[in-house]
Amino acid sequence: MNYYFNRTKNRLITIFISIFALFSAVVTASETIPISTKNTMMVFGVKESQELTFLYFGQKLANSKELASSPYPWTERPAMPTFGGHRYVNEPMITATHANGELSTELYYVDHKTTKVDDNVSVTEINLKDNIYPFFVTYTITSYFNEDMLSQKVTVRHEEDGEVRLGNSYSSLIPLHSSDLYLSHFYGTWGDEFQLEEEKLGHGIKTIESKKGVRTTQSENASYLVSLDGKAKEDVGEVIGGALAWSGNYKLSFEMDEVNNLSILAGMNPFVSVYSLVKGEVFETPDMLTTYSASGKGLVSRNFHRWARKYGLMHGDQERPIVLNSWEGVYFNFDENTITNMIDDAAELGVEMFVLDDGWFGNEYPRNSSKAGLGDWQVNKKKLPQGINYLAAYANKKDLRFGLWIEPEMVNPKSELAINHPDWIVKRQGREALTARSQLMLDVTNPEVQDFIFKVVEDLLDDVPNIEYIKWDANRHVENIGSNYLSKEKQSHFWIDYTKGLYAIYDRVRQKYPNLILQACASGGGRIDFGSLKYHDEFWSSDNTDPLTRVYLQYGTNHFYPAIATGSHISASPNHQTKRVTSLKFRTDVAMSGRLGMELQLKDIKGKDREYILKAMNTYKEIRHVIQFGDLYRMHSPYDDSGWSSLNYVESNLHEAIAFLFTTKHHDDTIKAILKFKGLDPKKTYKIEELNIFDKKSFHGQSVYSGDYLMKAGIMLNATYMYDSVVLRAVVVD
Ligand code: DGJ
Repeated sequence: MNYYFNRTKNRLITIFISIFALFSAVVTASETIPISTKNTMMVFGVKESQELTFLYFGQKLANSKELASSPYPWTERPAMPTFGGHRYVNEPMITATHANGELSTELYYVDHKTTKVDDNVSVTEINLKDNIYPFFVTYTITSYFNEDMLSQKVTVRHEEDGEVRLGNSYSSLIPLHSSDLYLSHFYGTWGDEFQLEEEKLGHGIKTIESKKGVRTTQSENASYLVSLDGKAKEDVGEVIGGALAWSGNYKLSFEMDEVNNLSILAGMNPFVSVYSLVKGEVFETPDMLTTYSASGKGLVSRNFHRWARKYGLMHGDQERPIVLNSWEGVYFNFDENTITNMIDDAAELGVEMFVLDDGWFGNEYPRNSSKAGLGDWQVNKKKLPQGINYLAAYANKKDLRFGLWIEPEMVNPKSELAINHPDWIVKRQGREALTARSQLMLDVTNPEVQDFIFKVVEDLLDDVPNIEYIKWDANRHVENIGSNYLSKEKQSHFWIDYTKGLYAIYDRVRQKYPNLILQACASGGGRIDFGSLKYHDEFWSSDNTDPLTRVYLQYGTNHFYPAIATGSHISASPNHQTKRVTSLKFRTDVAMSGRLGMELQLKDIKGKDREYILKAMNTYKEIRHVIQFGDLYRMHSPYDDSGWSSLNYVESNLHEAIAFLFTTKHHDDTIKAILKFKGLDPKKTYKIEELNIFDKKSFHGQSVYSGDYLMKAGIMLNATYMYDSVVLRAVVVD
């Protein structure tokens, strides 16, 4: 009886499996489009119905064709869902109102091709078309092989008789399937940017977005990490990391549906941004960069840093100079003497670039505070009678390079510019224009305004060709819009056209001044994105220069953006933003972990402190190649309760490493920190040297260890009291 029962049961199971297999063969992909990097793979599928599906993203598969017959539901997700097509009910990647008013779009695969740009980069273009309307979409995926980076973007075009209005036009969609996904993202506010927050992704939609138009990355950065197996760890676990290369409104949406399918959509924010396209017009979305790591979020960061230094950052292969910025030293209160004295001090202490910040311009409306003068880019004759030329030449004579601050997208109502060009100002029709920091925004969608801004840069650099560095600020966001330039039908193009207009200016600046060093400032932290970094050498991470805040802030920032670009300055104590009192050593060590600079009155640094600073500047010059070009490994997180934060940078040939340890809470004297290096060569022997010692050594061990020992056992450090810090250098000795 049992035998017959089992036989029947087994037969039924076999029949069921065969039916299921047959069913899967019908519904799954008939062709796969694998896109590989060194260790990862993203695979698209084309069904027999010619629908494009997303089959896989993760570790590189030996044979991606196996995906074509996989019966799992998560391999059946549309790669580019549209509104009204293919029964898709989640947030679509594309929504369009066709010329005849029809709201639905249904895209089908047409063809694809992969073009090798060079040994490292290849571009795959997948062409899709609506089955009824002449509405065409190209999905472009660029693979950066060695950096394990993929960049996705979408291009839309139509040949309909009339205008097509685009709503959603995201750059990428990554579908995942799991119920233990954790999202890490970076929130903040002025002076406290880039704070790490990690949360479990539940059902529903979680979005990270900006609707602020300008300074879009100050309250949330357009980047994320999704850990696929519990909270993200540094060196183990599967983690996906993404960052959008766009300086305008953006949206990252994490939608978990009822069957635990997660859809990660990323791109420009469709918020009040309907964009009409005439026949033949090409609309391109920004690049969404994504990497995958099977060994924790540390590798996600290193992939982004390596990619950024090679492809995503201006002059990513050039060492950055040590900067003295005048802002916290003198604010608006200076004259020629004050500045030449600062330059003297800077030269004496080994600084390489002097940057004159806000307050140098405006005559009719002098820029003596944030209330007037913005827009009038003529040197203030009262403050600087011999002009910028004189200051730049003075700096050069002292062996310093010279840089200048501008904020060319903005205008104070109290300025000649605002009086002469009221039509250039962003303003709601018939309503009051609202100021922030006493300023209004120029309408960068207007080509005349773009010409004006370019000319601000051109005139300055023509007049003073030895300006080698420009700090480009933008100190407000937008709450409402209104353009005199855009037609009434195109007011909703404002957000997108503003950013495209800004990029058009940067393109011109870069074409004419390829060697200029540009800093993206935007109140600190406001324009840290790979759209802007393509044009900039670095960013001002925050207006908060307090070293303890910076430990957290730079820890967050460097999850995606590399140390070489992270402006990090030694400032006065008590700190101007937090009033916290910290030692010169702590301030110096924290600043050294990024692109080192200073932001204080150097004449106030005296005696032993002065000698210390001079030595530290020389030390930085010796080790900066490791910090600026090395691989970052994080050890202690300031967010854990160890009370330490630590990291090390390792040269790509593993020859040299620089480690930093910062104390973030008081420890009893008996409690020591154990610092385990990461990323060294286990077979090599390293000599350890403590750098930046002020009056006590923190490392008392022997000086030579194997890489294996340094990474597995680690070394003990005396760094117990609050705001203590240690810098160590490890160099191969055999
Ligand atoms: C905001 C910047 O972040 C500061 O560094 C400084 O440049 C001020 N603007 C000047 O107004």
